[in-house]
Parts: sequence; C-alpha cells; structure tokens
Amino acid sequence: MTGQGLQDFLRDYEAAHPDDVYTVERPVSLDQDITAVVWELAERGQHPLLRFPNVEGSDREVVTNLFASRLRIERMLGAQPGELHDRYQWLAAEAMEMAETDDGPITDRVDAGDRVDLRSLPLLTHFATDLGPYITSGIVVAEEAETGRGNLSYHRSVVASPTSLGTSLHSRGDLWRLLQDAAARGRPLPVAMVIGAHPLFMLAASARVAFGVDEREIAGGLMGAPLEVVRTPKHGLRVPAAAEVVLEGEIDPAADEDEGPFGEFSGYSSDRSTRNRIDVCTVMQRNGAVWVDVVGGNSHEHLNLGRVPREAEMIAKLKDRFGSVAAVHYPHSGTHFHCYIAVDQRRPGEARQALLGLLGWDPYLKTVVAVDADVDVTRDEEVLWALATHFQPDRDMIVIDGLPGSALDPSADKLGTTSRLALDATRGEGFDAQRIEISSSARSIGREIADDRAGQH
Ligand SMILES: Cc1cc2nc3c(=O)[nH]c(=O)nc-3n(C[C@H](O)[C@H](O)[C@H](O)COP(=O)(O)O)c2cc1C
Repeated sequence: MTGQGLQDFLRDYEAAHPDDVYTVERPVSLDQDITAVVWELAERGQHPLLRFPNVEGSDREVVTNLFASRLRIERMLGAQPGELHDRYQWLAAEAMEMAETDDGPITDRVDAGDRVDLRSLPLLTHFATDLGPYITSGIVVAEEAETGRGNLSYHRSVVASPTSLGTSLHSRGDLWRLLQDAAARGRPLPVAMVIGAHPLFMLAASARVAFGVDEREIAGGLMGAPLEVVRTPKHGLRVPAAAEVVLEGEIDPAADEDEGPFGEFSGYSSDRSTRNRIDVCTVMQRNGAVWVDVVGGNSHEHLNLGRVPREAEMIAKLKDRFGSVAAVHYPHSGTHFHCYIAVDQRRPGEARQALLGLLGWDPYLKTVVAVDADVDVTRDEEVLWALATHFQPDRDMIVIDGLPGSALDPSADKLGTTSRLALDATRGEGFDAQRIEISSSARSIGREIADDRAGQH
C-alpha cells in the first residue's frame, strides 16, 4: 500500500539526498550514545538524518535527527529554499478528511493482554540527568467523545511498568482539555500513542491549532493525500495505517505516576510535569518496525519540530496584519522564547504595534526585538548590534506581566506564568548617526584578496 510510511520516506530521501543521511554502522548503546553523536555533529555544524542499525540490546534500527535541518524539512514539504513557512501554510490550509482502511502495515502484529511488555521496546536514555529511558517521539491521539474530532500532541513518556507509562501534559493544550472533560464525566480518556510515522504526520502533530481542528487532516494536507488510518482494536481510535509502532490505552484522570526529570528544550533538565499515567492494553507494530527517536534538550531537531508550524502561522499573521513587517526569525539561541522581527517602518510606532501583536499571539514568546529592515534578523550578532546602538531602555522597552507562558521556562513559576518584553531596536525618528561605509571599489578589491587567500588554503 501507500507511500505514507516512514520507511517509504527514508528509502526515497536517501536515494535523492545520500549526502544528507548518515548511517552509523558502529554499535552504540541505548544510554546517551545517540544524543552524544547528535551533539558532536551539531557542534561541527552538521545535522544529517541519522540511522543506527546496530544498537546494543535491540534488534531494531533507531532513526533520529529527522527534523534537525531546515533544508530537510523544506524538501519534505516540496518547498523551494527559503519558502519553508509559506509552503507549510499553503499545504496546511488544504486539510483533507482521513481515509479509513481495515488494515495496513501497523496491523502486522497486534499484542494485547499478557503479551504486552513495554520493556521490549528499544528505550533510549538521552541525558545523564534524565530519570531514565524515555519515549520522545510519542504522538498521543485522542478524540472528542461526541464528534470524533481528533487531537495530536507529543508527550514525553517513561516506562513505569510492563503496561504503563508516566507522561506529562505540561503544555496544557488540547489533550489536557480532553482529559479534563473525561474527568468531569468520571471516565478515563482513551488514547493511542504513535511512535514513528511519516515525517509530515509528525510535523502536523506539533501544530498548535484551535480545539476541534484535527491535525490528522492537516497531515493529509501536508502529504497531498488523505491520511490512511486504521482503528485501534479496543477504542477504535484512528491511527496512521503505515505507522511503525502504536500503543493503545487510557489515561485515568485520577491516577498519577512519577515522571521527570527530563532534558527539555530549554536546555535544562525539568521535573515540571502533570505526572499522568497511560495504561497500555495493546501494542501494534509493523513487521520490521524501526524506532524513531526525537533528540531532546535544546537540539535543533527538538526546536525545529516544535516550532516550524507555529513560526509559519505567526509569520503569515504578522505580515497579513502589519504591512511593515519585512522578516521574522526565531533564533536557535532563544529556544522557543525569543523572536526578532525586521520592520520597514513608515510611521512611528509601527514596530511597537507589531511587537505587541506577536507577544499576544505566540504563547511561548517572552522577548521580542524589532529592528530595521536592513538588519539581518537571522544573525544574532546583527540584532544585538542594533540593540546596542539604537535602543534606549527608558524609551524603547515594554514589559507586560502575568501572562500564560511555558511551564518549562525555569525562570517562570511552575504553571509557566511569565512576563513578556518587547524591545524596539529600530532607529526611530530623529536618529541621525551615519553608518560607516566602504566604497564599492574598495570592497571588490577586498573580495578579490580574500578569495585569493581562500584559494591558497
Ligand atoms: C518533540 C516534542 C515533545 C513534546 N513534549 C511534550 C510533553 O512532554 N508534554 C507536553 O505537554 N507537551 C509537549 N510538547 C508540546 C506539545 O506537543 C504541543 O504543544 C502540542 O502542539 C500541543 O497541541 P494541542 O494543544 O493540540 O494538544 C512537545 C512537542 C514536541 C515537538
């Protein structure tokens, strides 16, 4: 069937871009080795898709770093270089109803009852500071009882027993809301956890969309074809027919389970957790399933995956509403908390207005900086230069407090209540300093000499 499997994607991608896939033949342990490879390569500016066929203690291949490169995400979406966000928005708007089938690769093997043992999965420990091995790529599928409208969201999970997971809903998004609705009815919430599926399904799952918008339909939009789904055996939840592994179970709102600390996107080990428990009743797997991991911490993979759909939405909204916004960039250095915007300001105050819009719309942001359109917002040092030379704290800074933010910001309180800061580092009216210049003839001589030197080395 179908080209909607991760393994279809891996085969096609590796054939088209062999230089962007690195297969590590050397045996590695499940305990931190894979994170260490990702970290070492990233320090050298390298972010290949990584395959580990030889993992000690497991007969499965581990695949990771799928989302570490933005160029790779552009290719997944069929975008031209530099068109990542526009392409995402355009495809996501083409959401399609799912196509239900009776079986697919994910029904190759279905274990229930006594045959369920989560310890048989290749569980990776990512950081020395983690509680233990974690599932990091687990996408929880839940459906609203009356309408069947679904929700997808990622939830880090630790194996607590052969049939249960400890997990966290600290983002307090739609799954948390569905769980509260289940609690009000006095019932557990049926869930399925998808571990490994087509990368565009994984990307759609990280979108933070309005309650009732089903990310499985967005996945169809991104793939250009309805997502093919099968129903899980006990609760009938619709999961990708070509997924690698699916765990079916329930979250009892009254039950809790120890969970955390875990290496989070902030770069800190966090034990801020809602400590929920998922009781697993069924394990579904395709034959020859690979294990997909999402590198945790403030890795490029974790930050890209968590952010690309949100960036796309924010950029579209900002440009649509504020015509003066020329460029928007979320720097890697700011994890999910910083954003820079370049503004072609025609009236005083336009930059401040756009900054306030962004702070209101993006739930994760804490500090936003506006610069003029000649400043390259993709370069931290240029933005910091603009801040150093254009900005006066008593005049150009707006602080708003008491807003919901991320519970994983270690400087915020445990519910993530935060203040937010807008910094207007545009030159503004009356700015009369002359920017230094080098003549174009001198620049071309300088370029020739620099090229000569590059040729000699
Ligand atoms: C790799 C990854 C891991 C995540 N882990 C968690 C988690 O453990 N707990 C959580 O509450 N949110 C986590 N998130 C964030 C949610 O998945 C995200 O906010 C989601 O969009 C919420 O969607 P919802 O509002 O539709 O439920 C993670 C996101 C990513 C990309």
